[in-house]
Amino acid sequence: MLNHEFLTVNNPSAEWWRKAVIYQVYPRSFADADGDGIGDLKGITEKLGSLSDLGIDAIWFSPFFKSPQKDAGYDISDYRLIDPIFGTNEDFDVLLAKAKTLGIRIIVDIVPNHTSDQHAWFQAALASAPGSAERDYYHFRDGKGENGELPPNNWQSIFGGPAWSRITEANGELGQWYLHLFDSSQPDLNWENPKIADEFDDILRFWLDKGVDGFRVDVAHGMVKRAGLPDATIYDENLRERPISNLTMAEAEEAVPYWGQPGVHDAIRRFRRIIDEYDDRAMCAEASMSPLPRLAMWVRPDEYHQSFNFDYMHSKYEAAAIKKIVTDSIVEYGKVGASSTWVLSNHDGIRHATRLGIAPENTPRPGDGIHPSDPAPDEALGLRRARAATAFMLGLPGSSYLYQGEELGLPEAWQLEGKYRQDPTYARTNGDRIGRDGCRVPLPWVADATESNGFNSTGKSWLPQPANYRVFARNLQEGVVGSTLELYKRLLKVRKQFDLGAGAFSWVDDYDSETSLSYINNGVLVITNFSGGPIAMPAGELLVTTQHDLTVEGILEHDQTVWLKLS
Ligand code: NOJ
Repeated sequence: MLNHEFLTVNNPSAEWWRKAVIYQVYPRSFADADGDGIGDLKGITEKLGSLSDLGIDAIWFSPFFKSPQKDAGYDISDYRLIDPIFGTNEDFDVLLAKAKTLGIRIIVDIVPNHTSDQHAWFQAALASAPGSAERDYYHFRDGKGENGELPPNNWQSIFGGPAWSRITEANGELGQWYLHLFDSSQPDLNWENPKIADEFDDILRFWLDKGVDGFRVDVAHGMVKRAGLPDATIYDENLRERPISNLTMAEAEEAVPYWGQPGVHDAIRRFRRIIDEYDDRAMCAEASMSPLPRLAMWVRPDEYHQSFNFDYMHSKYEAAAIKKIVTDSIVEYGKVGASSTWVLSNHDGIRHATRLGIAPENTPRPGDGIHPSDPAPDEALGLRRARAATAFMLGLPGSSYLYQGEELGLPEAWQLEGKYRQDPTYARTNGDRIGRDGCRVPLPWVADATESNGFNSTGKSWLPQPANYRVFARNLQEGVVGSTLELYKRLLKVRKQFDLGAGAFSWVDDYDSETSLSYINNGVLVITNFSGGPIAMPAGELLVTTQHDLTVEGILEHDQTVWLKLS
């Protein structure tokens, strides 16, 4: 008899989003039908069958709206129009219809914290006088200093450099400053202005009326700023933010006057009221808040349905750390009636097949990327660990997010030459912080079919694939026992079969040690050996193993996960 006590209940009737496996498509890099080197909606539609074969429940699309693409589409100039580089609104309708026939739900990315500087609202603000209604859509302020030559406060851009830029007024003279927590091409909207909320009500309805199943909401913790825009007290000597998880809530709100301000929850509740006018839709917050009890405030019953779990994504690959985060997630989200979400990779972080092969002391800060002069990651170990970590994650109850390419075991393209780099972080820090391009390189579909390994038929690629991408091509993995692609398919199939997303979860102490963890969910026993010595497994049907070739019967090796059906 295994020792355990359930932290969740079995809830087979749970709403879809509580248990869904949601696959992130990064449209520029998924599949390119027109061959211009940038992925597009037609390319995605052609490949939807392969996502259905994988066994996912929903797709979240990173932004494909009209945009000057200064931050790869997170700088939107028209929220209702598909950018021509990706196709047309009709192409989206076709995609949505096909996804529906395949039973795949569609989530789109909404960016309410900022617009592009090319958005009509910002252009109108620039053309209007200080103090005008148009300027009040954004945060314009006079500068400090004798001639207004200093920024209005000390806030720093997440991408490096000051969070303020100064404009030239209509009379040709230097004038006010505007706030941009990200690139200078991404001015922050002023959510104290009720017109902004009205505009976003309409934008949400536009996509909901089309039939999308929900939204991923960008920078959901930053929309509302502290009144008076006071200085922040959080920066280190390099003007980088320090973690705030050790501060009380009141201290954190004061130290970082642009994150997690109480007013943000009113804006969320308004989004939620719109969503609730429709059946069965959901929204997920990109709220970089820590620790988990604080993050759980974003998923109270009248706020978001889900929020990304970045503590989980950035956790050390270590049994005790992971156990704490999983327990805290289930308990803290559970207290407010929310289910947990899990994620290991996305378009802002180092792919986990590479990240887990980096020594903890060399792991770059989130968003920084691996510098070509950093010690080389151990890619074989990284992939082995990534497979173990993914199998650990996909057995957990709740919803899991996958990032395109991880089902191929794709590594980070960390040696990209500077001339290709497009992340604004790279330019804003003079290459000091290398940025996120390494996880955004187009996918290899068919080895050697073209220079881009079948990403398109021309071989063009907005970021070049490194030579090692060829061996990860999907066609080389399809139907191959032990390949990462087949492992993912198997995990998703068994997950569905046992309804693990809505399962009853408990830790199992018998296989718990400094280097291993085990839990049971709906009758499936999951054991992960994180870097320890061999473990003897209990008797049972082996449902999944992440190391096909290595499993000596009954023995679990280091950096390996198994799923067993107990007999
Ligand atoms: C978070 C997005 O995931 C990231 O890619 C983007 O650069 C920032 N928000 C700004 O929109």
